[in-house]
Amino acid sequence: MSCSPMPSDYHYVKLKSDCSRSSLQWYTQAQNKMRRPSLLLKVIFKYMLPVFGVCIILYIIKLNYTTEECDMKKVPYVDPDRIKRAQKYAQQVLQEKCRPNFAKKSMARLFETYKMDLLPFVKKAPRVNEAEYKYDPPFGFRQFSSKVQTLLEVLPEHDFPEHLKTKSCRRCVVIGSGGILHGLGLGHALNQFDVVIRLNSAPVEGYSEHVGNKTTIRMTYPEGAPLSDLEYYSNDLFVAVLFKSVDFNWLQAMVKNETLPFWVRLFFWKQVAEKIPLQPKHFRILNPVIIKETAFDILQYSEPQSRFWGRDKNIPTIGVIAIVLATHLCDEVSFAGFGYDLSQPDTPLHYFDNLCMAAMNFQTMHNVTTETQFLLKLVKAQVVKDLSGGIHCEF
Ligand SMILES: *[C@@H]1O[C@H](CO)[C@@H](O)[C@H](O)[C@H]1NC(C)=O
Ligand SMILES: *[C@@H]1O[C@H](CO)[C@@H](O)[C@H](O)[C@H]1NC(C)=O
Ligand SMILES: *[C@@H]1O[C@H](CO)[C@@H](O)[C@H](O)[C@H]1NC(C)=O
Repeated sequence: MSCSPMPSDYHYVKLKSDCSRSSLQWYTQAQNKMRRPSLLLKVIFKYMLPVFGVCIILYIIKLNYTTEECDMKKVPYVDPDRIKRAQKYAQQVLQEKCRPNFAKKSMARLFETYKMDLLPFVKKAPRVNEAEYKYDPPFGFRQFSSKVQTLLEVLPEHDFPEHLKTKSCRRCVVIGSGGILHGLGLGHALNQFDVVIRLNSAPVEGYSEHVGNKTTIRMTYPEGAPLSDLEYYSNDLFVAVLFKSVDFNWLQAMVKNETLPFWVRLFFWKQVAEKIPLQPKHFRILNPVIIKETAFDILQYSEPQSRFWGRDKNIPTIGVIAIVLATHLCDEVSFAGFGYDLSQPDTPLHYFDNLCMAAMNFQTMHNVTTETQFLLKLVKAQVVKDLSGGIHCEF
């Protein structure tokens, strides 16, 4: 088990203090010097990790006091013509005929290794599904099989809910956190999709004109789960992305409406939600094979070489994972709020906070270039629609 800093698509990017950096470098150097760490070193690592955690906490506290560089509380100016064209385009997408299985079939055509029958969520099964346990998290649950089994015992449902399954053709939209969403007034159009997938803590409250106020799926790792009860609607599915040992403890506590022990809380790199106001039947675990498929089969990243996640920039962002998930869940897929334009360092990174695009240059988990090329390929092949035009503008 490790308590190294977790990949966040927006908090980790700012973790560039000397504090976190030097610990990482120190670890790397130590690792290079000694192929097989001695017992002494192991003991040092074991006790260094909490110190490392404290570093991160101090840095996050510091983060809260940084200046407001790209403050999103002010709605940015967007050309009224562009707003009109975006809204018209979204309505046009909604009015096109829905083609059953279109997303899956198209993905299989584009990517030979795409598996059309992958389950979206982890399920109780009479036999262990080997693919789920082949890799360490986030690509699999190797060494976590007993924790997974325990969790599955407390989750009453593992499927897509019946009322969504019965619809003969589903249109889904994945809403990214991109600053490009702000000002386009797409909320009304986004609410008309059958399934609306939101990521991490991306809020609805205060932004619904631009991001809508319907949520069907909230997909997040523990640290990303919204802290405010207002962000949960009673019918949402909460889809957990699990990375580390304590993530399983956290999810179990949330499902059973129990209090997380204080010592467990120390292992998170950021404050985690204490209660999730949803019934147990609304929780799911993302099938880690979807992350594996996204990373190795679709983006063609190399398989993990080290214990430190993201050292190889081989962790897909949760946004890209959600788009691949959507192709498995839905017949037609659109997205909005995607696209990092690194050539515009002073533009807002997200629609809801004050980070600037430049922050993306400091993250160490994700290969933005590869992801952008992948999304561009999907949009150009007309497999998915880009409603805010941050990847490829069709309006
Ligand atoms: C979304 O907003 C509309 C209008 O503002 C409101 O009527 C509706 O109840 C809201 N839906 C949810 C799920 O909050
Ligand atoms: C969770 O427990 C609290 C009391 O600790 C209770 O007020 C709340 O209704 C419970 N929530 C659910 C979803 O059961
Ligand atoms: C991202 O992936 C591309 C290959 O698609 C590679 O050329 C590039 O070096 C990678 N970038 C980083 C920062 O690792």
